[in-house]
Parts: sequence; structure tokens; C-alpha cells
Amino acid sequence: MLYPVILCGGSGTRLWPLSRKSYPKQFVPLVGEETLFQASASRLSSSDTLSFAPPVVITGSDFRFIVTEQLAAAGIDPGAVLIEPEGRNTAPAVLAAALYLHAKDPEAVLLVAPSDHVVPDKAAFHAAVGKGLGDVARGKLVTFGIRPTHPETAYGYLELSGKPSEAGDPVDLKQFVEKPDLERASAMVAAGTFLWNAGIFLFAAKDIIAAFERHAPELMAPVRGAVEDAAADLGFLRLAPEPWSGAAEISVDYAVMERADNLAVVPFAAGWSDLGGWDAVWRETDKGEDGVVTSGEAHAIDCHDVLLRSDSDSLQLVGIGLKNIMAVAMNDAVLVADMGRAQDVKKAVDLLKARG
Ligand code: GDD
Ligand code: MG
Repeated sequence: MLYPVILCGGSGTRLWPLSRKSYPKQFVPLVGEETLFQASASRLSSSDTLSFAPPVVITGSDFRFIVTEQLAAAGIDPGAVLIEPEGRNTAPAVLAAALYLHAKDPEAVLLVAPSDHVVPDKAAFHAAVGKGLGDVARGKLVTFGIRPTHPETAYGYLELSGKPSEAGDPVDLKQFVEKPDLERASAMVAAGTFLWNAGIFLFAAKDIIAAFERHAPELMAPVRGAVEDAAADLGFLRLAPEPWSGAAEISVDYAVMERADNLAVVPFAAGWSDLGGWDAVWRETDKGEDGVVTSGEAHAIDCHDVLLRSDSDSLQLVGIGLKNIMAVAMNDAVLVADMGRAQDVKKAVDLLKARG
């Protein structure tokens, strides 16, 4: 059986002031009417070509009711909601989900996906997952690869062992390089044999557990202990805090993917964005020729290529004669920036933090 596992952790500071610690970006409608989390859960539900078990969501205690409310509102039954006593990055989260599902179903296959990405074409995504299943049956850990457009240092890179076929069949990986520096990223983009790691993984529970045993054995005892001693609580499954606190904070990319030698990649060309900034939100939203995106109580007069958004219940936002500008208003904060400076929004967060 194929089980979706949705990782629902940390917050994205580059989408300040909307994304906050207490209400991260995946729970907000950023593109279209559904929240990113709801869109992820619907993308991981059955279609004509693929059949999924209900999703397993792994998240923090603060978000547990948001998760169940948003799933219910989208008409999706949660399979299980695992609660982390504290965020330990993605490696312990993935291992916990794998151990939990393996105990239920030793043949479980996991499709692990983030909760904060945009992949508009569900059918194309399911076709890509379908292509990866053959490799999973051969014991591979399958990744999904996106053609790079620039030397991004916030992504992992997948080095292909051969040229991908037109049909988008899986290719074995030579190596996985997580978050290179700019020089290395530029060299990889220039080489033409690398794809970006989409951050979505497909593998059998037993194979990822074996990979953790081999490449990150120090995580096994704490995470296994936390799963075995987990407590059922109002339909949630709380991982046991004491063993969990012994798990190192590390991502699955560094803990396993960079070290494993049984990786394959399914190239994916049908559209993917991790919404790494307001410029990406603007790009991914449907708009007319003038390039104007407004939402909430926001209005544009003679504007071009702007994102004007008010999530405030009291602030009206009006732009006049603007070009290439993004403005996002909340009750307690307003961001106004050049569209080309979207990545610098985290500087605003740092500045405000430093000022207390
Ligand atoms: N449950 C849980 N617990 N989820 C977590 C935690 C945690 O402690 N930390 C992160 N997550 C969730 C995030 O909410 C997100 O949905 C997903 O796991 C990925 O984590 P990020 O922190 O966003 O990873 P990243 O963007 O730096 O890097 C990953 O994604 C890139 C593509 O967007 C890597 O896989 C890169 O290789 C990849 O290119
Ligand atoms: Mg991310």
C-alpha cells in the first residue's frame, strides 16, 4: 500500500509578515483558495492512476488542531497525525513515520512530501510517482528532479548517471549534493547533468529504515523509542518526549540522501515551486496581462507586475502606478519591497528580531 507522509514543520521567514512561527505558511491560502497544506493533502489522495491510503501527517503539538480542521474542511480523512515533542528537522520525522508505518504494514511504501509546495498538475505528479514505483520495488530510494534555472543554494542537487529519456523514466543517481555553496551550484548548473531535488521522496519503509541503520544509526534508538512508547491522545499519536530528546537535529537530505548509494530520480517537468519568496507566490498565481495579483482588501490602480495583499481585517491597501512591487499588509506589520528583492525579506525578520 502507498502511504502519503506529509511533513508539516518549520516556518518560512521569507514569506514574512504572513508566515509566522505560530502560523506557518503551509496553513495559509497563498496561491488559490486552498491552503498549501490542503493542496498537498489533495495532491496525495487517490486518482484514476494511483491509489493512496489516507495521509500520515507529522507535525508539532501547536499545529495539531489546524491540521485536523484543514483536512476536514478539504474532505480528507487523516490516516494518523503524529506529534513531535519538538521539531528535530526532517530526518527524525521521516524515520518516525517509516517505523510507525512499517509496524502496521511491513510492505508499506511511503511518499514523503513537504506541506508547503505548489505542484499544480496532480495527474502529471501521479504519473511521475507511478514511474518511480518500479524502482521502489527494486529497493531504490526515489527522488524527484526539477530542471534547474539558476544556481540556487537553498536546494539539493541530484547528479544523474545518464541522460534522462523523453518519457521521464527513472535514472540512477551518481550523487546527491545538499545545499552547495554558490560556486559549486554554478558549476553543477553549467554541467547540465544535475537536477534540483524537489524534496519529495518515494521508498519502501523497510528500505529507508535500512538506510537510516546504515547511514545515521545514532537516530535509530531515540526515534524507535519515541515511536514504540507513543501515546494516543484524542486521535493524535504523541511521540514519547524522553527518547525523542536524544535524536539529533538533522535533515533527511544530510543524514541519509547524501550518503546513500541506492538513489534514483524521476525527472519532473510539469511545474513545481517551493514558494521560497513573495516573487514565487506572484509567479504561481493566475493573473491577467497586466501582471496584477491582489488579495483581500487590496486594490491596484494603473499597476503592472505587482502583488498587493492585505490579510488585515482593518487595513485597506491601495497601489497606484506601481511596477514590480510587492506589498503585504497584516494588522501588525506591512511589507513593501521591490519584486527583485524577495529573498531579502528574511533580513527584515532578522532586523526586527534584533530590535526585540
Ligand atoms: N514534521 C516536521 N518536523 N516537518 C519538518 C521539520 C520538522 O522538524 N522541519 C522541516 N519540516 C518540513 C517543512 O515544513 C517542509 O514541509 C519540509 O519538511 C522540508 O523542510 P524545509 O526546511 O523546507 O527544507 P528545505 O527547503 O530547506 O530543503 C529541502 O527541500 C528543498 C526543495 O524545496 C531539501 O529536501 C532540499 O534538498 C530540496 O531541494
Ligand atoms: Mg523548504
